[in-house]
Parts: sequence; structure tokens; C-alpha cells
Amino acid sequence: MNDPHSKTLLGKVVVVTGAARGQGAAEAEALFREGAHVIATDAEPVGDCRRLDVTSEDDWASLAAELRESYGRVDGLVNNAGITWRARLGDVRPEDFARVHTVNVTGPLLGIQHLVPLMPPGSSIVNVGSSAALTGHYPVAYTSSKWALRGLSKAAATELGPRGIRVNTIHPGFIDTEMTASAHPAFREANIRETPLGRTGTVAEVAPLVVFLLSEHASFITGVEIPVDGGLTAHGGVKSISEALRPETT
Ligand code: NAI
Repeated sequence: MNDPHSKTLLGKVVVVTGAARGQGAAEAEALFREGAHVIATDAEPVGDCRRLDVTSEDDWASLAAELRESYGRVDGLVNNAGITWRARLGDVRPEDFARVHTVNVTGPLLGIQHLVPLMPPGSSIVNVGSSAALTGHYPVAYTSSKWALRGLSKAAATELGPRGIRVNTIHPGFIDTEMTASAHPAFREANIRETPLGRTGTVAEVAPLVVFLLSEHASFITGVEIPVDGGLTAHGGVKSISEALRPETT
């Protein structure tokens, strides 16, 4: 059981963005435990994290040059870094709209553009979307950026499939991190009400899916989108209807 060769990502070189905290930190840790050489990066690095702002072409270019020099290849990329902005449709300013899109969509695009040349067949890219990418969630800059990321992921899966590179997207629901800690308490309560499992999720419940998608266990899976949301997006908005009618139908 403790045989190191049973580790699913032994020797794989994997880059994780936004890895200083939250889901990215948990993903970096889980990948490391599975034997990967993890390059944890963040715009605001702490500890072993390397500084990389996903919106900076220069940062990506120097990371790619360093990885070429030290490993000669990259086997995995987790485009996890993301920001939210909770302005509604009528209030959002174009500059905030653009800023959110630059981090959440242009960032992953730049990561793919700079690291794919180093990726051998069998490599894997995971983009971190959101339940907002599957719904009409009210923070319109965030929601539209995550929908755009879905499009980028699909196009990349199509384009890179012939090179043996897989591209998949995960859609976390409400996960307890600093991002959600900054939301109004009503947001948390409403999420729990709409989630069939009746609770929020943890970073430890997202990381294993990233490990799986980067591993050989997912070798024929590309272009898919997997929610990790306790069922939030599975019911398509009918949970409250089902519950409202429950006394009459049981
Ligand atoms: P978080 O706010 O706790 O962590 C995000 C990390 O990304 C931070 O360390 C931050 O410094 C870094 N970051 C921000 N802008 C960056 C940039 N330009 N370049 C590099 N790093 C940057 O957020 P959390 O919750 O861990 O989110 C991770 C991903 O999961 C994000 O893409 C987020 O949109 C997504 N997500 C989060 C959900 C949640 O409920 N927490 C739900 C659905 C999706």
C-alpha cells in the first residue's frame, strides 16, 4: 500500500496557478502526495509558491523557459487562479468586467499557449470553472467569464486532442475558502438551501478530482465538464418546487 510506485502522478511535472491558498493550495498538496513535481504559483505567493500573475505574458514566458531548462517538459496544468466581482448587471463597470475576464479567461489561455509547447502526448490540463458557468448566477462579470472559460476549454480539447493532450473543466459549487468567506451570509445560506447534499463543500473534496483528471486513470476523458457541487446544478432549479410540494405528494 505504501509502494511509492503506486502513486498515480509519480514524476509528472504539474503547474498549479492560484496555489497560495484555497483550492489551489489543496490541489498542489494532493498532487504532491501523488508523486508529482508540483510548481505551485500565485500572484501573491506564500511559502514555496513561485510568483506568477496569470495575466502576465512575461511571467508565463519565464516560467516556461525555466521548466524547459529544469525538466524539459510539463505534464500537467491546473488553471485554478480566479477572482470574483459581485456587481450586478446594472452596476458592473466595464473596467471591472474586463479585469475579471482577463484573470479568469485570458489567464488560462496564456497558460495553455505558453506550456503546451512543452507538453508531451499524455499531458492533461484542468480548468477550474464554477457552478456559475452552468447557471445565470447574478455576479455577471464572474458568471460570463466562467462561461467563456467553458468555451476555451472545449476549443482547446478539440485543438489539442490530436497531440494527445486532454483538457477538462471542473465546476465547484460553494466551497469554503477565502473567496466565499467574503460573501454575504445570505449567499451561503441560499446555496445550502439549493444544494441537495445540504451543505457547503471543502477544498479536500475538489482536489481528488483534479488528481484524477491529471492521471492516466482519465486517459480517454477530454472535453468534459464535471460539477463538484453537492448537486447544486443537477436539479436545474426545481429543488424548491419539489420541496414546496412535498407534503402533498408523500
Ligand atoms: P481564493 O480566493 O481563496 O484563492 C484564489 C487564489 O488565486 C489566491 O491565492 C489569489 O492570490 C490567486 N490569484 C488571484 N488572481 C491571480 C492572478 N492574476 N494570478 C495568479 N494568481 C491569482 O479562491 P478559491 O475559492 O480557492 O478559488 C479557486 C478557483 O475556484 C477560482 O478559479 C474560483 O473562481 C473557483 N471557484 C471557487 C468557488 C468557491 O466556492 N470557493 C466556487 C466555484 C469556483
